Amino acid sequence: MRKSALDPGAMPVSLRPMDPNRPLGIGVVGAGFIAETRARCYRALGGAARLAAVTSRGGEKARSYAQKFEVGAVADDLAALLSRDDVDLVDLCVPNDLHRPFTEQAAAAGKHVVCTKPLTAYVGQDLGADPDAAAVSATPRPRMLDLAVADAEAMVKACDAAGVQLMYGENWLYAPAVERTRALLEQAGGTILDMRGGECHKGSHSPYSKLWKHTGGGALLRLGAHPVGAMLWFKREEGLRRDGQPIVPVAVVADLADCSKIASLDAEAKAHVTRGWVDVENWGTVLIEFSDGSRGNAWGADTMLGGMESRLEIQTSNARYRCNLSPNDMLQTYAPDASVFGEAYIMEKVDSGAGWTTPMPDEDWTSGHFQMCADFVAAAREGRPARADGALGRDVVRVIYAAYVGAAEGRRVALD
Ligand SMILES: NC(=O)c1ccc[n+]([C@@H]2O[C@H](COP(=O)([O-])OP(=O)(O)OC[C@H]3O[C@@H](n4cnc5c(N)ncnc54)[C@H](OP(=O)(O)O)[C@@H]3O)[C@@H](O)[C@H]2O)c1
Repeated sequence: MRKSALDPGAMPVSLRPMDPNRPLGIGVVGAGFIAETRARCYRALGGAARLAAVTSRGGEKARSYAQKFEVGAVADDLAALLSRDDVDLVDLCVPNDLHRPFTEQAAAAGKHVVCTKPLTAYVGQDLGADPDAAAVSATPRPRMLDLAVADAEAMVKACDAAGVQLMYGENWLYAPAVERTRALLEQAGGTILDMRGGECHKGSHSPYSKLWKHTGGGALLRLGAHPVGAMLWFKREEGLRRDGQPIVPVAVVADLADCSKIASLDAEAKAHVTRGWVDVENWGTVLIEFSDGSRGNAWGADTMLGGMESRLEIQTSNARYRCNLSPNDMLQTYAPDASVFGEAYIMEKVDSGAGWTTPMPDEDWTSGHFQMCADFVAAAREGRPARADGALGRDVVRVIYAAYVGAAEGRRVALD
């Protein structure tokens, strides 16, 4: 990427310096949950970016999305979106099984690619079209690891070969609490000894999350990808800062469970736990050993009531850091019953404003989504790498699928 920037004559069209007066054209693929977040964030960038086009599987959803977010055009499909000259960057907000093929098509069309987490997943891609769900989840974990990482490698290579950027939609890297930690860590210069962090929900909005065939894993993949990504990035940056070499993960130990299947829940009248997970874990944790001997403990869970919880703690040789992404107490409210705030949005995964709650003033900002979109747009415009890149997304996939191997086989797994 940087090499081509030294030689403008050899640059692919998409990496030539952009007209600074022209906004970066964004093509959004998908019109669901994460696509809405991205639209709010790109629009908040003002003149730097423009929502040029959107496409989704069912045109109706894309049309109402286009109307809601004032998107320039609705494309019939990905090919039509990619053929547009006013699209410079494609943001893939689609299910995991489409990440690789859509990235390869977008790169071949000379567009920068943003791919949401997880970068790839094992969803039975070796079992033909519409594979049997039981066969997918019965696939040996080492094979899942190989295929998921191979897909991620292919995505990185396709974008490198096309001279476009592959950016990885890991919002944790941009959350204000994490960014401030990065800056203080640089100032303090200590060694990170131990990191602990997780993302926990009370279950996903998507019914597809309950089946391996659709998501490629459970809470450890869907939610744990965030803290794993942040930990790998912090150690990578520490190594680069200290001696120009990244500190990398070398081994994992993991455990997984479906805590909603604990027998005593059947007799409880007041259990609020989300149930019905078919073949995926709703609780998972991974211990990561890094090449310098430090450790990370990341977890994801669908068992937690009280709203989304995203936290990261870092202990270093000379300081401690506690990052609260969600919830945080910028605003605390009390209402004696749910009718007081009516339908008002409180925060992700909180349905009621009754009692003490923490309505988030700006979740797109506290979660880092807005700053992430700003970095992606600036990176594409300036021809420099984004903070969250495809290589990080690939490494997260490797750690999590190695964790699946370790949990299935009851052993520590060394990473290649
Ligand atoms: N914090 C985060 O980073 C975060 C949070 C949530 C989700 N995600 C990730 O975002 C991705 C999407 O999740 P979501 O929750 O947004 O799912 P969602 O609400 O179900 O939306 C998925 C969208 O993809 C579209 N789609 C499906 N097949 C397509 C195709 N062949 N061509 C074009 N569009 C197609 C669907 O279109 P139709 O509706 O028309 O069928 C739908 O609009 C997943 O990879 C997930 O892991 C990331």
